[in-house]
Amino acid sequence: MGNPCESRYFAFVLLMLLVTPCPSGSQIIKNKTLTIGGIFPMSGSWAGGEGCLPAVQMALSDVNNQTDILPEYKLEMDSDDSQCKPGLGTKVLYKLLYNKPTKLLVLCGCSIVSTFVAQAAKMWKLVVLSYGGSSPALSNRERFPTFFRTHPSGTLHNPIRLKVFKKFNWKRISTIQETQELFTSTIEDLEKRVKREGMDIVVRQSFLTDPTNAVRNLRRQDARIIVGVFYEDMARRVFCQTAQQFTERLDKMLNTSDTSLITGYPEAPLAYDAVWAMAFAFHKAAAKLGERGMQLEDFDYNNEEITDAIYSAMNSTKFLGISGNVAFTAKGDRIAWTQVEQFISKSHSRLD
Ligand SMILES: *[C@@H]1O[C@H](CO)[C@@H](O)[C@H](O)[C@H]1NC(C)=O
Ligand SMILES: *[C@@H]1O[C@H](CO)[C@@H](O)[C@H](O)[C@H]1NC(C)=O
Ligand SMILES: *[C@@H]1O[C@H](CO)[C@@H](O)[C@H](O)[C@H]1NC(C)=O
Ligand SMILES: *[C@@H]1O[C@H](CO)[C@@H](O)[C@H](O)[C@H]1NC(C)=O
Repeated sequence: MGNPCESRYFAFVLLMLLVTPCPSGSQIIKNKTLTIGGIFPMSGSWAGGEGCLPAVQMALSDVNNQTDILPEYKLEMDSDDSQCKPGLGTKVLYKLLYNKPTKLLVLCGCSIVSTFVAQAAKMWKLVVLSYGGSSPALSNRERFPTFFRTHPSGTLHNPIRLKVFKKFNWKRISTIQETQELFTSTIEDLEKRVKREGMDIVVRQSFLTDPTNAVRNLRRQDARIIVGVFYEDMARRVFCQTAQQFTERLDKMLNTSDTSLITGYPEAPLAYDAVWAMAFAFHKAAAKLGERGMQLEDFDYNNEEITDAIYSAMNSTKFLGISGNVAFTAKGDRIAWTQVEQFISKSHSRLD
């Protein structure tokens, strides 16, 4: 300290260490391959693959570009389209599993597909990581023992919804939902929380494909505080019934004539971070297995030791991703923040 010459020398030594990270002679090359499976909804009720598949590919290429993470391994992905349909998603999973090379993990998208994939994957000792599954039903370690997600659970927003109701002293709440397990369990969780606080769900409407009648019923009952949960394509239809301008404002913000081009765009950071969570977990697991003379590539859908190593590493994930801090609860849920925004007429502010 204090001696300028000494600290300059120290900085020089540090720089030398930084530019020569590995002992000379052992050039590190990613000359081995780890393959993962990818299931992306490219169409259907949530075609999030449109935004998420490019994000995943970008992340894989970024991970492969880093020599300090998985220095021996290059990550590759075999993927296919689930159309956000559980039947097709399951078929894609089997195709991925029965074709070589062995997949070390499966990435998947929409909730209804994630549910089937995560339930089946345990038979192959496969860890499943979802970038777009928000169904609260997925937070069940007994049903889905190897499941993690970078997408926050749907019920995650319920405590925040409750805080907003309290802040404005709203006591009579109405709900509108698409008929899917994901949304039903979100609303059921909300109903429980609302009752506990002495508030009421006064009108509860649901619809399968056409929200017209449900919206008409809300109007007839003069519902003012409405919580809506539905997929994005449904969201458009609902808001068109209530306020045409909403769509126009949204479209203007997105500056695209074809909004279907960017389905999954909001989830793209979650997909990008999912790949990094996976890469860090593989990296950590590889070191742990190495101590026992094992390697990640020994995985054969039977090897619980490798699954456990990946699971434990994923379970202790902690890094700053582009979607914020990435960490999982013991149930595999994303620990996340929610932003609450307020629209009054045409002005817009953030609530704290
Ligand atoms: C990969 O590279 C390392 C270090 O250069 C070498 O020891 C190893 O034999 C190579 N493995 C393969 C499969 O080529
Ligand atoms: C990483 O990307 C940079 C710039 O695109 C490239 O020059 C470099 O060779 C890449 N490194 C690896 C290990 O692929
Ligand atoms: C919107 O897109 C058009 C054409 O794609 C472009 O000319 C224009 O500058 C964009 N506007 C904004 C605000 O980005
Ligand atoms: C997962 O992490 C939690 C703490 O978040 C810990 O209690 C639990 O034992 C961990 N499970 C495994 C299998 O590592």
